[in-house]
Parts: sequence; structure tokens; C-alpha cells
Amino acid sequence: MKILVAVFLVLVVVGTAAAGCPDGWTQFLDLCYIYQSAKASWASAQSSCQALGGILAEPDTACENEVLIHMCRENGDAGSFGPWLGGQKVGGAWQWSSSGAAFDYLRWGPNEPNNSGGNEDCLHYNWLSWNDLRCHYQASYLCQRAAE
Ligand SMILES: *[C@@H]1O[C@H](CO)[C@@H](O)[C@H](O)[C@H]1NC(C)=O
Repeated sequence: MKILVAVFLVLVVVGTAAAGCPDGWTQFLDLCYIYQSAKASWASAQSSCQALGGILAEPDTACENEVLIHMCRENGDAGSFGPWLGGQKVGGAWQWSSSGAAFDYLRWGPNEPNNSGGNEDCLHYNWLSWNDLRCHYQASYLCQRAAE
């Protein structure tokens, strides 16, 4: 695991040095990511990411998830109620918001998603694992956009 993380970090550093992402964004392969500390509801965070030319981050591979986890740690946001991600529960099924594709890679925390209290329909990091949370909760967020 440590070796994998190290490899990812090297890729992140190499990616950052290469052209392709606007200032302040972190490149990994063909995507750029940015952490936004401002607190917002899930929908409002999605709109803010769209205003930046992107979408809420959709970590649909283990590598992308590791990059985003690293960004949470770097920004001191590795605890509970961490940043929003671009997934939602629609008609009882979890999907990536940009495509409607069902989750393939999964990184839920233990016993999650638990829909605690009902209406936990939006995806975010809780202690660096995926968790379901009510969509109007005010949280930080992670955006992604295509590298150019
Ligand atoms: C559901 O998970 C949350 C963490 O997101 C936890 O605080 C809560 O106690 C859990 N609820 C139940 C009913 O297990």
C-alpha cells in the first residue's frame, strides 16, 4: 500500500509539473483536481465546480481515489464531514452524476452507506472513506476537469 501511494504521489508531482491544468489544480493522468474549502450544499458545490469548467470529482478508480485522499490530507480535511464527491443516490441506486453510471469501484467506509436518519443521498468523504450524507449539509468539495 505504501509503495502504491508513493507511486501515485510521484505521478501527481510529475503531472503537476507538466502543462495541462490551470494554476492551483493538481493533474493526474488526463484529469485536473482542485480542493475547495468553502462550505456548500452538494448542489451548490456541483454548480461551483461547473463554473470552474468541471464537475464534482468522481473517483471511479483506486488511483483517482488515492489522489483525492492525498489532497484531503494536504488540506487538513481528513476527518469527519469531509468534501463532497460527484455521486448521488437516484431511485435507490448510487451513480456518478456526470454519466449516471453505477458505481463500479467502491470505497465505502465500514457499514456505509447507512442512510442514517433517511435522505442521505449525496456522496462525500468521511475519515477519507466514502459516506452518504444529506445533500443540504454544508461541506467542502473536490472538483475535477479535463486536462488540456
Ligand atoms: C451511520 O453512519 C454515520 C457516519 O456517517 C454514523 O455517525 C451513524 O451513527 C451511523 N448510523 C447508524 C444508524 O448506524
